[in-house]
Amino acid sequence: MNLEPATVRGWNFSNLDPPFMIPKETIDNIFESAHIEEVVGDYVVLKKRGANMLGLCPFHDEKTPSFTVSPAKGIYKCFGCGKGGNSVNFVMDHEHFSYPEALRHLAKRFGIEVEEEEMSPEQQQEYNERESLYIVSQFAEDYFVKQLHESEEGQAIGLSYFKERGFTEETIKKFKLGYSPDSWEAFSDAAKSAGYKEEYLKATGLSKEKNGKLFDGYKGRVIFPIHNLSGRPIGFGGRTLKTDKRTPKYINSPECEIYNKRKVLYGIFYARKGIAQDDNCYLVEGYTDVISMHQAGVENVVASSGTSLTPDQIRLISRYTKNITILFDGDTAGIKASFRGIDLILEEGMNVKVVLFPEGADPDSYAKSHTTEQLKEFIEGNAKDFLVFKTDLLLSDTEGDPIKKAALIREIVASIAIIPDFITRSVYVKECSAILDIPEEALINELNKTRKNQLNKRKPGRAPHPDEPPFFDPGEQSLSPTPAPRQGESKSTVSYQELDLVRVLLLHGPKVVSVQVLNEQDEQVEQEVRIADFIISEILGDQLEMEDALHGKIVAAFVEAQEQGEVMEGKKLVNHEDEAIRELCTELLSDRHELHNWEKRDIFVEGEDKKLLKMLNGVVSSYKAARVHQLRDENAQMIKEAAAKGEDVIPLIQKKMLLDSLLSSLSTPQGRTVIR
Ligand code: CTP
Ligand code: MN
Repeated sequence: MNLEPATVRGWNFSNLDPPFMIPKETIDNIFESAHIEEVVGDYVVLKKRGANMLGLCPFHDEKTPSFTVSPAKGIYKCFGCGKGGNSVNFVMDHEHFSYPEALRHLAKRFGIEVEEEEMSPEQQQEYNERESLYIVSQFAEDYFVKQLHESEEGQAIGLSYFKERGFTEETIKKFKLGYSPDSWEAFSDAAKSAGYKEEYLKATGLSKEKNGKLFDGYKGRVIFPIHNLSGRPIGFGGRTLKTDKRTPKYINSPECEIYNKRKVLYGIFYARKGIAQDDNCYLVEGYTDVISMHQAGVENVVASSGTSLTPDQIRLISRYTKNITILFDGDTAGIKASFRGIDLILEEGMNVKVVLFPEGADPDSYAKSHTTEQLKEFIEGNAKDFLVFKTDLLLSDTEGDPIKKAALIREIVASIAIIPDFITRSVYVKECSAILDIPEEALINELNKTRKNQLNKRKPGRAPHPDEPPFFDPGEQSLSPTPAPRQGESKSTVSYQELDLVRVLLLHGPKVVSVQVLNEQDEQVEQEVRIADFIISEILGDQLEMEDALHGKIVAAFVEAQEQGEVMEGKKLVNHEDEAIRELCTELLSDRHELHNWEKRDIFVEGEDKKLLKMLNGVVSSYKAARVHQLRDENAQMIKEAAAKGEDVIPLIQKKMLLDSLLSSLSTPQGRTVIR
């Protein structure tokens, strides 16, 4: 194997990541061998607590342990700061390793030999190209910073502009703000004589070509570099200082291999710690809002730069928190236009709040003209739940117009319907029925219609694939303290119900049943649904993760088939490559389990179809009830702990009441199948 490090322009890539790859099988082997409790145990003293282990979080200061490790799930999670992930994430975070560095480290620790494959020439070229774009962007950032602080022009024009805007020296340095001289080729010439290739200067938009000559892309502008998650510059925003209307106010980097504006959030590198700590992310319009809020001491803030939030950006945020607060400046026209984008956030299962700034103010100006306390108070005091906000705002337009109001109800219901979690949906039904002054039952009917349509149309598989390495959202339910049952241990109620669901999937997945749903005219009609689709939609639709990884894998096999338009048959899984899956499926498909419980409950009494339907309803709602019970128990524990610490228990008690009412609605006899 050729171990000579690749060099491009004197850059030794072994400083970064060498152009070698770790083969996939080795990576799988590392993931399997690097048991989370041992990996974390190298750094943290862990004590056993049920099936989990508990210790002091290495990522933030704490005196009472809230750092939890689940050996069964292979993940860690800190309930204090929100950090979480698997073994590889842990060493990446703790040692600041890159992904390949983390893999090599773990391989060494667990005695796994890593024979790295040399990248193919194409892979190496792609890698080199990306690396070259990073390097040229880094050069540009350094150059612009130097110009701002050290050149006379930079100080007189750029630096004084930033200071006039109220940015402190510290802020300017922190965000690496810069200045590009007001000359056609100052930057391009400097870059060329430092040896940077034209093709990379052009690809990043730093230089433009005209008549075979290179010109500066950001001539005479102040520069806001855009950083990726690890703080490397990947793009730039340049603001003109001229008031000439014909000059665009901002020039932003074009898309290139390292800069995709749909995936990037301005400020994420500086905000990610704050987002996890506060368990909330503020979303603002642009560079100046992010920077001013930071300077005012609010650090959990990012901007989506021009566009409304994309699914990729939402997913990026959801790695740190489930809560987004959108800060709008006082212009309602723009707000209505953004409603559809916000529905996307709901669809990802996030909680969305909005804050409306007073007319004429934006976060930037408000942060400047108020103290930090006032800013924080304003945001906290004016944060409204998005759906409530939307309902209020649209309702004010419908006054006295029943047709408009009917349209509004459909619009609101459409937003509620895409929320993956059924508990959250129920809360919104309650709240919106009060605001709209219509009975809950009417909203639920409307909701059922919408959900039914979604069930027909839905693109399955948006929910996390249970087979993925568990990089999970730091939501409160993601690492439930209920022990995940292992063989020999007694199973919790939830995983017992899970097992039932899996069994029904295996035995009856491809069968079709007709369920009662409400049609557009509010009439009860029959609709044919495949049992596997029904279960997947009920479970994954609510993003209820399987507690037992093995159950998750089996459900995943069905989801995969569904995605490919195929129908999975339970008996195929008896030949699955994974021995544990083989065993469980064999066992579940055997007679002993087929009779499990159901006969005792006297359910096999009617015709085949009805029988199946009743069973299906029973399994799904028992499973949900078990989950709600579990959440209620967790909540009770949290109330106890909060009360002992003298913390606010009101929100927890509200949650308890909600869970109680859900539980009673779930335990009513299932006369009809309600898809909701
Ligand atoms: N923005 C942009 N492109 C534009 C206008 C605005 O990308 N053509 C983004 C920038 O990120 C900017 C944010 O929107 O920070 C806010 O816009 P605006 O207030 O117009 O920019 P400022 O630089 O704050 O200008 P002003 O001093 O006039 O408030
Ligand atoms: Mn502004």
